[in-house]
Amino acid sequence: MVNFKEEIGKLIASQVEGLSLEEVESMVEVPQDRKMGDYAFPCFKLAKVMRKAPPLIAKGIAEAIGENQMFEKVEQVNAYVNMFISREEFVGDVTAAVLEEKEDYGKSNIGQGKKVIVEYSSPNIAKPFHIGHIRSTVIGNSINKIYSALGYDVVRINHLGDYGTQFGKMICAYRHWGNKEDVVREPIKTLLHYYTKFHEEVENHPELNDEAREIFAKLEHGEKEETELWQWFRDESLKEFSRVYKMLGIDFDSYAGESFYSDKMPRFVKELEEKHLLEESQGAHVVNLEEYGLGVALITKSDGSTLYITRDIAAAVYRKETYDFYKNIYVVASQQNLHFQQWFKILELMGYEFAKDCVHVPFGLVSLEDGTMSTRHGRVVFLEDVLNRAVEQTKEIIKEKGVATDNIDDTARQVGIGAVVFNELSNNRIKDYVFSWDKVLDFNGETGPYVQYTYARCASVLRNAGEEASAKAMDPKNVKAEYITGESAFQLARLIYELPKVVREAGEKYEPSIVTRHIVDIAQGFNRFYHDEHILVENQEEKTAKLALVIAAKTAIKNGLALLGMETPERM
Ligand code: ARG
Repeated sequence: MVNFKEEIGKLIASQVEGLSLEEVESMVEVPQDRKMGDYAFPCFKLAKVMRKAPPLIAKGIAEAIGENQMFEKVEQVNAYVNMFISREEFVGDVTAAVLEEKEDYGKSNIGQGKKVIVEYSSPNIAKPFHIGHIRSTVIGNSINKIYSALGYDVVRINHLGDYGTQFGKMICAYRHWGNKEDVVREPIKTLLHYYTKFHEEVENHPELNDEAREIFAKLEHGEKEETELWQWFRDESLKEFSRVYKMLGIDFDSYAGESFYSDKMPRFVKELEEKHLLEESQGAHVVNLEEYGLGVALITKSDGSTLYITRDIAAAVYRKETYDFYKNIYVVASQQNLHFQQWFKILELMGYEFAKDCVHVPFGLVSLEDGTMSTRHGRVVFLEDVLNRAVEQTKEIIKEKGVATDNIDDTARQVGIGAVVFNELSNNRIKDYVFSWDKVLDFNGETGPYVQYTYARCASVLRNAGEEASAKAMDPKNVKAEYITGESAFQLARLIYELPKVVREAGEKYEPSIVTRHIVDIAQGFNRFYHDEHILVENQEEKTAKLALVIAAKTAIKNGLALLGMETPERM
């Protein structure tokens, strides 16, 4: 497919002085107001080198490139060269590319041969998998899909929070107030109850803290009884997490969480010492990062037990040694910004060059309409319940509206879960947001259901056209682009054309919402086309060309939604 920006860059670069090809290309704009052309080039920067007024320069360029067959029209307006792409050539080119590339449309191979680790989800064992975890899980999954689409070899890691002092507390609480039957019957909720109880009791019985610390130390030394309890909590928790991952269609290549590194830490504590980075402070060991404005990082406690940050250091080196990654991406809440800055700095000070290839991708907080969540106070909304409720409510809406589906349960699942995922990926990830049922399931807003509905509408047009006509439209040789040059057809083609670029940008910025918003644009573009034009016309050539554009839109929406981790129902 023609890269118009690049071609325009080349054309203009041959007409001007003092700017490199790259500079010229980066100056080519897409005007907000399409009356100003499909592409525009501002000439202000050239005035100095070319010693001419910008409008004069623009006029010269417009005259020089105006005859190129790529354009329908080239105009000079003030300091700008406004370029209008030849619609027929453009639309034909885009449609053919999508028809040929099919499910690969939007992909590229810029990442070929490069390994990227995406770490996401990483919930804490024996704690609820709540609505707060949806962010890392869904954003990370989408980043994984985007990087895979860009040709990178992605390793998906779930860095389970399956280790640390909280297990001392949990076991301690279990021994004091727990019983086996309750845990077996309802593991996570029971364990959460123990955890909450511990924090209540410790207010009046601070000695419980010492007891919990001792238990954790035993766990660190691999004592049988503590290890077995820990293993049991872990197994039960993983069962619950797996149910949620299955609903979301999410997989991992590795569940090597914090406990995996428990025996790999001494090497690093020693290394920090040898590199004179470790300081003793009241029996504990710290790395002082004050001179970098990053405070002090606690590496081992006074009882010798290691910490979250120590395990992250060990994990990063392990990953480098095991996978030799090009990039190591962590999708973790912005509350942990300091944590990541600290240990990235420590890696750098230790002399690990790959520290620069570790990327923290932070995101904002999700809260509920009636206040924030707190595990300690037991006020949580379970992610599984949210997903189930989304599916149930969607089923009701489908029944109410009398929507035709292939299978109501399947469609309700695709749409209900898709709605939650799409909502999650709609805003810039760094923004805090409030979870609201009304917004998530609004079938008319810029939501998942709206986009899926548009997809199903494309499918329905093709069904109505019949198999033979649809098959004909699938072959670019049969497509006469002159029939799809109307305003809304052309604008739809433009949006479809942008998809590969949008995917690249989303990857560079670790920002799936760029894809989400673009899919909404494509869906709206399709609906405008559908509204403005009669598609199943008598004229066979015209019908084939229009159906080809429908197929292109349908493919672009499907490929885009797949990058968010969403499915596409053929009927709804
Ligand atoms: N388990 C942690 C939590 O729920 C997130 C882990 C993030 N990943 C990491 N490598 N530190 O807060």
